[in-house]
Amino acid sequence: MRVEDLDFRVDSGVYAPAEDTYLLIDAIDLDRDDVFLDVGCGAGFLTLGAARIVRRVVATDISLKAARNTLRNLERNGLARSCSVMQSDLLGSIPPAAFFSVIAFNPPYLPYDGTTTEIDHALLGGVKGTELAERFIQQAVRHLQRGGSVFVVSSSLSNIKDLKNVMVNCGLDIEIVASVSIFFEKIQVLKGTQQ
Ligand SMILES: C[S@@+](CC[C@H](N)C(=O)[O-])C[C@H]1O[C@@H](n2cnc3c(N)ncnc32)[C@H](O)[C@@H]1O
Repeated sequence: MRVEDLDFRVDSGVYAPAEDTYLLIDAIDLDRDDVFLDVGCGAGFLTLGAARIVRRVVATDISLKAARNTLRNLERNGLARSCSVMQSDLLGSIPPAAFFSVIAFNPPYLPYDGTTTEIDHALLGGVKGTELAERFIQQAVRHLQRGGSVFVVSSSLSNIKDLKNVMVNCGLDIEIVASVSIFFEKIQVLKGTQQ
């Protein structure tokens, strides 16, 4: 996805694109006919990249600030027409009859460590680190077109084994399509394709 030339701004309290964002964006292969859902869109880096390629993009975030930030970035770059942005807990506001060929989530994936900050909603994924990602997979498979794919970022600091088990139990074939080591952590992108 081409993103370097975007007029892209990050509001305070919203996750700024980082290594995991770039890893995910490089791992997803989209074409014009795809219908793409970006869950936890943050400031919308992935949403904007996808909006330049595909027919239709839907973006959700539980944070109203993040959803607004994505919408403004889309408008700034003349990309809002093919996109819908909504505040939603995961896929909770997606109509039951809406189906996507590609669904992605760069979730909060760190285990809860007892401390709190303004950006926790973007970082902490539960006690194991994977609870939110597991819930995402269970919801996402209900909105996948036949043969569609789910992409989810995970960290070696979290319980990736449990996440993979949930993906398998949801009928997905798993592939690790990208990974990067940063200091003491390895970040991976898992791709699940419907069997
Ligand atoms: C690590 S940030 C990723 C942001 C952006 N997609 C990126 O890659 O730069 C995780 C995002 O997930 C959002 N989020 C956290 N819990 C969520 C939930 N239950 N439903 C939807 N989004 C959620 C956060 O607000 C945050 O914007």
